Amino acid sequence: MHIRILGSGAGGGFPQWNCNCKNCLALRSGVFSGPARTQSSIAVSSDNENWVLFNASPDIRAQLESFPPLQPARAVRDTGICAIVIVDAQIDHTTGLLMLREHTEPWDIYCTEAVKDDLTTGFPIFNILGHFRGVNWHEIKTDQSRFEIPQAKGLVFTPIPLKSEAPPYSPHRHNTVPGDNIGMLMEDSKTGKSLFYAPGLGVIEPHVKTTMENADCVLIDGTMWTNDEMSHEGISDKLASEMGHLDQSGKGGILETLNTLSKPRKILIHINNTNPILDESSAERATLVENNIEVSFDGMDIHL
Ligand code: MLT
Ligand code: MN
Ligand code: ZN
Repeated sequence: MHIRILGSGAGGGFPQWNCNCKNCLALRSGVFSGPARTQSSIAVSSDNENWVLFNASPDIRAQLESFPPLQPARAVRDTGICAIVIVDAQIDHTTGLLMLREHTEPWDIYCTEAVKDDLTTGFPIFNILGHFRGVNWHEIKTDQSRFEIPQAKGLVFTPIPLKSEAPPYSPHRHNTVPGDNIGMLMEDSKTGKSLFYAPGLGVIEPHVKTTMENADCVLIDGTMWTNDEMSHEGISDKLASEMGHLDQSGKGGILETLNTLSKPRKILIHINNTNPILDESSAERATLVENNIEVSFDGMDIHL
């Protein structure tokens, strides 16, 4: 299985257009130790020909151009994307669907009923795409039942229901229903290797921990280092937890759990522009290195 990190940043990307936090300012001034990041998305393939796109970010146009296998040019209009999986209905994971409206056939889109509801009401992207070639919606169930995507040969998917948050525009923002957020365990039937992907992880429930323990690689929520990170520079008093993201460094945080896992390779994704781990010379980044935890970057390839 080949996993390509198309976008390793959280909503807003890095630098964020209106942000002058320490990180964003330093990056723009050319004195930052670390790369810019586009918004949250990955592509996965077992045969290096048919790619499943996980989430469609507002940066998708540049992301597709950055990875030639997604534009194989076999016909006058073509794409290497054979299906799209959406793990939540957040703006940073869905807006890119509008940029894919020129597709020559209906898109095969896999998501839960809760996500489909948001994408046909509060943020009716599916309805809008209906005025182009439309959407073939495939329901992802929340009971952890395995499924395959016919065009993506060699991959088997198990959705893992997660506690996080629905988008700010959703009627269930702070009153989530099953299916508002999922992670995905994906297994390559040839190599037998598996990846657990969860860019929005609010609580590490027992079934999530078990999934992480058994995976060969975990690619999980790296949004914020501390729960109150946004308040440090007076940006916002919103806590990471209110947005459905478990911080890395706090008691019961992501690091604590990752450090109990012996099997998987551990990689963070969906990193917010305020997070000190973006700075490769920071003490926080050094802590991750000491603990054998990697920070994904745009253009990173993972082979399992
Ligand atoms: C999130 O992950 O919490 C959201 O994508 C935030 C946003 O709307 O940008
Ligand atoms: Mn997000
Ligand atoms: Zn910033």
